Amino acid sequence: MSTQSQTDLAVTLPDDFFFGAALSGPQTEGMWQAHGKLENMWDLWSNQDIRAFYNRVGSYAGNDMGARYAEDFALFHELGLSSCRTSIQWSRLMDADGQLNPEGAAFYHELFAAAREAGVEVFVNLYHFDMPAYLFRRGGWENREVVEAYASYARAAFTEFGQEIEHWFTFNEPIVEPEQRYVHGAWYPFHRDFAQARRVQYGISLAHALAVDAFRTLQAAGTVRADAKIGLINCFTPPYTREDPTPADLEAVRMTDGLHNRWWLDLVTKGTLPTDVVKTLSERGVELPVRAGDEAILARGTVDWLGFNYYQPTRVQAPASDTDELGNPVFAEPYVWPEAVMNKSRGWEIYPKGIYDFAMTMTRDYPELEWFVSENGIGIEEHHAARTADGAIDDVAYRVPFVRDHLRWVAQAIAEGARCRGYHYWGVIDCWSWNNAYKNRYGFVEVDLQDNYSRRYKASAEWLRQVTSTHVIA
Ligand code: BG6
Repeated sequence: MSTQSQTDLAVTLPDDFFFGAALSGPQTEGMWQAHGKLENMWDLWSNQDIRAFYNRVGSYAGNDMGARYAEDFALFHELGLSSCRTSIQWSRLMDADGQLNPEGAAFYHELFAAAREAGVEVFVNLYHFDMPAYLFRRGGWENREVVEAYASYARAAFTEFGQEIEHWFTFNEPIVEPEQRYVHGAWYPFHRDFAQARRVQYGISLAHALAVDAFRTLQAAGTVRADAKIGLINCFTPPYTREDPTPADLEAVRMTDGLHNRWWLDLVTKGTLPTDVVKTLSERGVELPVRAGDEAILARGTVDWLGFNYYQPTRVQAPASDTDELGNPVFAEPYVWPEAVMNKSRGWEIYPKGIYDFAMTMTRDYPELEWFVSENGIGIEEHHAARTADGAIDDVAYRVPFVRDHLRWVAQAIAEGARCRGYHYWGVIDCWSWNNAYKNRYGFVEVDLQDNYSRRYKASAEWLRQVTSTHVIA
């Protein structure tokens, strides 16, 4: 599938390289009203307009993992996956007064225990686009009280699970809510307000730093185990432009890279935001809501390691106009690369070398930083997919080359010095994909919606098992 030459790439991953599954609470657990769970942003949108969700499948059932987690952890183990990253849902762990909800806590204790029993280590992320709705109604990430509420939720989670969990993450893809909810207007509340998006991004950055600070304090006190680590996960994507760029094209690259990548990389390695980006924003009339003391808060946001989600590259060029029809500043517009290979189901470009290019950028610019591939995968409409003689979905022709090519570029980056420790495949078991619901299937394991969410290996599962057991990317 790749347009790159794969022939010279490394094909072996280090012995201590780990393989795992990436998932999230709101996309898998279901049980949307059990354990006193509060309404979150996805429940709010589903309740308000179910037609916005593919085939009218809203946020309510996930992939039924809340009821099937023991079975799912056993499947991960069988596939040779030693870890899985999921998220605690803020709306399940905390009540509407901001206190720990004991029933929600009990659910996660049981889930983590089941994973341990199956030989799977759970990495815990605290936020996956799923703010409790009542906090959104109070202004969401623009309201400092909500930022503080997140810090207090993080503190409660560290205190409750601090002896059980070794790997923590504050946020998954913190760039996505600013973009999807406030720039593109694609997700509820459908705003198209660039300045608001940046205020939201700033609020998330403070929340991240406050959570890291709470983690360090609780670790020093012995509440969090001494070997625990904290990190952040983002969908970093190398920005490319045309082959013969103008200065304006390069400027589009600088701001795209600045807002999507360097913003988070500087925050987690230096405890600062990129000054050139903040300056350009200000020159274009976009001021961040900075208060006295914020610098010291952000300074505490440095992490132990990082998660790198990679699906597609970003290709940009100078925008035709530097404002849109609403008066928002525009710094870049999409560049359509004539040679792009597309995943037509998702509308995303497939470009495995991008994972290597960004890995080498991190190795050059942030040499101390350890990281892992925290998501990578391919979602395809499989409703009418061919089945093998034994009834399994035959996904080998597209899923195997996708994962193989990305893994080979990862192996190549490691061979050239990248500090990448492992790989989590996104949605090893098919799961609910936000407003795309079950349109595009990512799994090595099928979830049959017509048969009460029953699980069945797809044909590609055997290939995955081979790779995880040999570390050879055949
Ligand atoms: C990542 C998210 O952006 O991509 C996941 O962390 C998401 O939550 C995944 O499901 C795949 O994207 P989508 O929109 O196809 O589900």
